Amino acid sequence: MNKKVNNSKDDRIGDDVIVCRCEEVTAGQVRAAIRQGANDMDSVKKMTRAGMGLCQNKACYNIIAKIISQETGKELSELKPFTSRPPVRPLKIKLLKEETKG
Ligand code: FES
Repeated sequence: MNKKVNNSKDDRIGDDVIVCRCEEVTAGQVRAAIRQGANDMDSVKKMTRAGMGLCQNKACYNIIAKIISQETGKELSELKPFTSRPPVRPLKIKLLKEETKG
């Protein structure tokens, strides 16, 4: 992502808009986390839960990165992706048990 972010007021997402549907996190919550010191993807994730939902940030990654870039002045290319934590999809314990039986 080497794209330059447009920081004009017209390009800003309203604070009430949900940017992470899985965890119902709004743009305003992401901005509040940034004001409290979060300045990268992982710290925003830890403070808001944005990106921790079922889709594992497939739907919200770009927009959260854009907000961080707008608010901190960092280039998108400077932002490291969320740290992934397996399993990336929820599994039923029953499936793991069957796997070990072989
Ligand atoms: S929309 Fe953010 S984790 Fe799914």
